[in-house]
Amino acid sequence: MPHRPYIVGNWKMNGTRAMLAEARAIARGAARYPDVDIALAPPFTLIGALRAEVSEIGVGGQDCHVAVKGAHTGDVSAAMLADIGADFVILGHSERRKDHGEGDALIRAKAEAALAAGLGVIVCVGETLEERDGGKAEAVVSGQVDGSIPLGDAAAEAVATGKVAVAYEPVWAIGTGRVAAVEDVVAMHAAVRARLVAAYGEAGEKVRILYGGSVNAGNAADLLAAEGVGGALVGGASLTADAFLPIVAAAG
Ligand code: G3H
Repeated sequence: MPHRPYIVGNWKMNGTRAMLAEARAIARGAARYPDVDIALAPPFTLIGALRAEVSEIGVGGQDCHVAVKGAHTGDVSAAMLADIGADFVILGHSERRKDHGEGDALIRAKAEAALAAGLGVIVCVGETLEERDGGKAEAVVSGQVDGSIPLGDAAAEAVATGKVAVAYEPVWAIGTGRVAAVEDVVAMHAAVRARLVAAYGEAGEKVRILYGGSVNAGNAADLLAAEGVGGALVGGASLTADAFLPIVAAAG
């Protein structure tokens, strides 16, 4: 099933208000690519300001708490993200899995909480270099998909309406400049698709599977043209309009 390309910039822990100028430039540039869904996930501190200034692209968070509210110092709920104008949230990024010890069950619970709050979700999966070298990449990633995608009636509805995406991000390709080989990306996306269809039935074909890991202007065209690649989750190259818009162009 051909998917409308989805190009998402994950600013990670980068960006003060001065960077809103880049978001505005990205939004202005987005007008040239009406056939691409474009979004940015800035730090929590910029979501409200970005949403207020920019309407042409999606805006999302990089994590949320599983609860709606309560005594969870330092955390932000999905309902709070929705309230401030976010459209979606990235969950289970490998940096969350590593830095905060997040496991599949928690990520699934967060995804289901995010859908309940009306947000779309991008659930991240990906193997470490050790796992790839050990021949376990597909088993690890398949297990992560099985364990962390949202389930239940709300998930079925969200899948049907295109609000669930999965990002395949090999950990060793993130921020390293070492992009995965296109044939490996194709193979892994097919494996992820099989798990999505197993979980959601035919509707699993609707889920966009993004690739992430050192995507840049030079490699985006090849990656985005590859079988089963529905878009990109971009880190470093999403921080400026000059770096990000050529990736959007490669999708459009
Ligand atoms: O969420 C984005 C990914 O972790 C990729 O980051 O493009 O800097 O490698 P990167």
